Amino acid sequence: METTEVQIHRGLRGIYIDNTQASFIDGNVGKLLYRGYDIHELAEKSTFEETMYLLLHGQLPTRAQLSAFDAELRAARPIPAEVIQIIRLVQRAHPMDVLRTAVSALAAFDPDVTNESPEAILRKGIRLTAQAATVVAAHERIRHGLDPVPPDPSLNHAGNFLYLLRGKRPDPEEAKTMDVDFIIHAEHSSNASAFAARVTASTLSDLHSAIVTGIGTLKGPLHGGAAEKVMEMAEAIGQPERAEEYVRETLKSHGRIMGFGHAVYKAEDPRARHLRDRSKVLGEKRGEPQWFQILTVLEQKAMVPYRARGIYVNVDFFAGSVYHLLGIPSDLFISIFAMGRIPGWTLQVMEQQAHNMLLRPLLNYTGPMDLPYVPMDQRR
Ligand SMILES: CC(C)(COP(=O)(O)OP(=O)(O)OC[C@H]1O[C@@H](n2cnc3c(N)ncnc32)[C@H](O)[C@@H]1OP(=O)(O)O)[C@@H](O)C(=O)NCCC(=O)NCCS
Repeated sequence: METTEVQIHRGLRGIYIDNTQASFIDGNVGKLLYRGYDIHELAEKSTFEETMYLLLHGQLPTRAQLSAFDAELRAARPIPAEVIQIIRLVQRAHPMDVLRTAVSALAAFDPDVTNESPEAILRKGIRLTAQAATVVAAHERIRHGLDPVPPDPSLNHAGNFLYLLRGKRPDPEEAKTMDVDFIIHAEHSSNASAFAARVTASTLSDLHSAIVTGIGTLKGPLHGGAAEKVMEMAEAIGQPERAEEYVRETLKSHGRIMGFGHAVYKAEDPRARHLRDRSKVLGEKRGEPQWFQILTVLEQKAMVPYRARGIYVNVDFFAGSVYHLLGIPSDLFISIFAMGRIPGWTLQVMEQQAHNMLLRPLLNYTGPMDLPYVPMDQRR
């Protein structure tokens, strides 16, 4: 049989699938823009609500636009009692499985579920962003034998999330830390979960299905799981004096240092710096300065030789310690990433559907051909 040479692009590395107006990444210099705005400016000057508006509408809001958008987000926080009931039923599952299940169930109660107009996708993205925080916090309380607390409409998205988790209002510094974390996780171009969400959207499926796809894809340890692993690593190291030895031993056995390296960034991940100082300040305040000290030895000493190979800290490096210091259990870390990413997934779905083409790559078949079918009683 005649065969033609097929060029395989494993992992789709280096392949552009479309144009985007969502975010720009230059991995060689560590640059990230959302809708043209530098992530550093957004992390320092913006809020999650404003950044989410920017992502979904393509421009910074006026005061009146932001106020209306924020009011819509706050109003969307409560989730149906039936969904709380479902969370109770699956409470023993991993928080990401619970979030995935709850988002799927929320579709059944969404007034726009069959409406895939751009306006309806926007409304659903806003609702899901607000509801996801309620789901994650409700599950955390339910699995510890506590009742969920009703959302507090006087708090912003980040502050309300911490309030829902703890049942008491966070101090402004903690709420701001959570807010910055949501900003830096909001969008990141065609990473695996956004690409998966686009594939679902490209079949003209609905937003809830695309977000469920995104959550399921983010869950894998090669994508969303590193913050948890960084904290495990810091706990295993235990004290700053042991950090260099830990790196030597791990690399000798071909292990990886969690929170370092990135598929796109070959310089420092620009998102990392915004949690670095917060990890230090929170650690001192909480009387647990050792985590920041351990991470600093890793970053400033042990892993310095790896910079020449383009291996620098990524967004997850300080995130794990920050979540820990906010009193958040480690199996919730990926769910927090997912909550922050819903605006980005929503935007990617909107872009995909604005000029849709079914995403349908090819696989090069390398198995046997034209085998004769063997009847059951003749098989050995
Ligand atoms: C994120 C990650 C998968 C991206 O990797 P990538 O760019 O596709 O590069 P590769 O996995 O092909 O690794 C390239 C080389 O760098 C090394 N490397 C990459 N990240 C490393 C790390 N964190 N620790 C030690 N070595 C690392 C690899 O061992 C490999 O070395 P080799 O060429 O001698 O085999 C990888 O850096 C990693 O596993 N990091 C740790 C997990 C993590 O923090 N993930 C969160 C990402 S936001």
